Amino acid sequence: MSFYEDRIFPHVMEWGARPFRRSCAEVMAYAQGRVLEIGVGTGANLRNYPEAVTEVIGIEPSDAMLQIAHERLQQTKSAFRWELQQADARSLPFETASFDTVVAILVFCTIPDPERAAAEAFRALKPGGRLVFFEHVVSPDSGLARWQHRINPTWRKLACGCEINRDTRSLFERAGFRFENIKAWQHPKIVSIAASVIAGVGVRP
Ligand SMILES: C[S@@+](CC[C@H](N)C(=O)[O-])C[C@H]1O[C@@H](n2cnc3c(N)ncnc32)[C@H](O)[C@@H]1O
Repeated sequence: MSFYEDRIFPHVMEWGARPFRRSCAEVMAYAQGRVLEIGVGTGANLRNYPEAVTEVIGIEPSDAMLQIAHERLQQTKSAFRWELQQADARSLPFETASFDTVVAILVFCTIPDPERAAAEAFRALKPGGRLVFFEHVVSPDSGLARWQHRINPTWRKLACGCEINRDTRSLFERAGFRFENIKAWQHPKIVSIAASVIAGVGVRP
């Protein structure tokens, strides 16, 4: 890990994602029971858990991010039990059908093999369990999408693996999720190249 990845990027990422946070908080109302949050990062989303949540296990591969998330959780009074673990969403160290909710906030843009991670999220959920998500994705506007594809290689380097041109909606469908609800829009407060977003709930049938 480089100095940029460890010391600078966590703060850049938090600052850059701030305009999204209200929408993230809204979708989090669908989380309940025993929750797995994949790619918790610095823990910016952990304040958004509703009362229906009893336990949150957050996983994250980056040591630097985990440390910030840990400090943040220790300073906050949470109504739920929590635990943070260093782990990879592509190979979850949890039993099949062991969670009521999997939370994915701005993370399927970054996981190197998102197909595997989606399959793992599906496996970890109980039948009827929910994938609660908010993700920035490829634009449905072909002109904007062309620019996203052009800029993506540079963006990926600057944003430590994040890609702006992923079709995460299709990815979730291929993994077997059925959408209970899904909303797609162009976020007004973000630079348009990264402003196409989806939010909603996918169910493991
Ligand atoms: C854009 S950040 C978002 C972090 C956090 N969800 C938030 O809303 O602030 C993407 C996160 O995905 C994490 N990530 C990257 N690869 C991952 C993987 N294979 N498994 C789990 N998380 C991963 C990154 O370390 C980073 O913390």
